Amino acid sequence: MNTTLQINDFIKNIPKAELHIHIEGSLEPEMMFGIAKRNNIKIKHKSIEDIKNTYNFTCLQDFLNIYYSGCDVLMVAQDFYDLTLAYLKKARSQNITHCEIFFDPQTHTGRGIKFSTVTEGILKALRNGQKKLGISSRLIMCFLRNLDEESAMKTLKSALNYKKEIIAIGLDSLEIGNPPRKFKRVFEKAREAGFLTVAHAGEEGPADYVKEALDLLKVSRIDHGNNSLDDERLINELAKKQIPLTICPLSNLRLKIVYDLKNHPLKIMMKKGLLVSINSDDPAYFGGYLNENFLAIIQALNLTIDDITRLAKNSFQSSFLDADEKNKMIAKVNEYVKKFKPKISNQ
Ligand code: ADE
Ligand code: ZN
Repeated sequence: MNTTLQINDFIKNIPKAELHIHIEGSLEPEMMFGIAKRNNIKIKHKSIEDIKNTYNFTCLQDFLNIYYSGCDVLMVAQDFYDLTLAYLKKARSQNITHCEIFFDPQTHTGRGIKFSTVTEGILKALRNGQKKLGISSRLIMCFLRNLDEESAMKTLKSALNYKKEIIAIGLDSLEIGNPPRKFKRVFEKAREAGFLTVAHAGEEGPADYVKEALDLLKVSRIDHGNNSLDDERLINELAKKQIPLTICPLSNLRLKIVYDLKNHPLKIMMKKGLLVSINSDDPAYFGGYLNENFLAIIQALNLTIDDITRLAKNSFQSSFLDADEKNKMIAKVNEYVKKFKPKISNQ
C-alpha cells in the first residue's frame, strides 16, 4: 500500500485547529478577479496566471507589497463576508474544527473603508461558519507595525466597539525596524480593556524581538518565533512556560526564512519541548492551506504519526478555547488516532 497516500488521509482527517491565518492572505486570485469585477475595480494583471506569476517573493516586504495591493479589491461588507466564508469552507474540507483568524483593519481603513464594514463582514461569516459548518472561531485584530503608535491607538479605539467579538490584539507586517517596544503603550491599553495579546516575532526579526513581545507586550502566544532558537535562555523560558509558537512552514519557505524545508527548525523545536503548531499564514499566496503545510513539513523532516498527533493536539492546546473545550478536542484527537493509527503500516 502507498504510505504517502495513507499519511495524506491521516493528516486530512485528523481534527485540528488553525491559529495563524490572515484572512486577507486567503484571497485567491479567482476571488480577487470576481470581487474586482463586481466593484468595478481594474486589476493591473490580465489573468489569474499573470497574478500567480508575481507570487515569487524575495522576502517579507516583497510579499507584503503584493498582499496589500491584492486587498485593494475589498470594498464592502459582502467582500469580507465572501472572503471569510470561502476560507471557512476550505477549513471544513480539511477537518479544521476551530480557527483563530487575523485581520488587518488598517489596510482597509487607510483606503477609506470603515472599520465596521470590515469587521461586520468577517463576523457574519464566522457566525455562519459556526452555525452551518460547525467550525468554532475567534477573531484577532492585528496592528500594522510599520505604521505609528497613533494609528494603532485609533484602531484600538474602534476595536472597543467589538470587545465581545474580538478576543485578542496581534502585531504583523514588516518586522525588522519595528520592534515590539514601539507598541508597548498601545498593548498596555489593549490589555487594560481586556483583550488578550499575541505578536509576530522572530520571523525575520531577532530573538530579542521575541523577548520584547513576551516581556513588554505580555503576549500569550508568539506567531512564528523561528529565530528564538538563537537564544538558549529564551528557548528554555518558552519551553518551561509552554508559550505557544504558531509555525508556518510553507510561508517560511516562500519568504526565504528557510531555503529548504529540510532545514526547517520545527523538529528541533519539538525536541526542545516547545508548544508548536502548524499553520498556513497566507495560504492563497504561499501554495497551500493547512493540510498542504502538514504534508510538506512531515515529508521534509520525516516526521512520524506520533509527531502529527502531537502537532494536532498542540493546536488545540495553544488555542484560546477554554480548558473544557480544549480537553474535549484533544480527546477527539485521541479517539481518532486510536481508530486510524493501526491502519498506517509503515510507521
Ligand atoms: N501579514 C500577513 N502575513 C504576514 C507575515 N507572514 N508576517 C508579517 N505580517 C504578515
Ligand atoms: Zn502571519
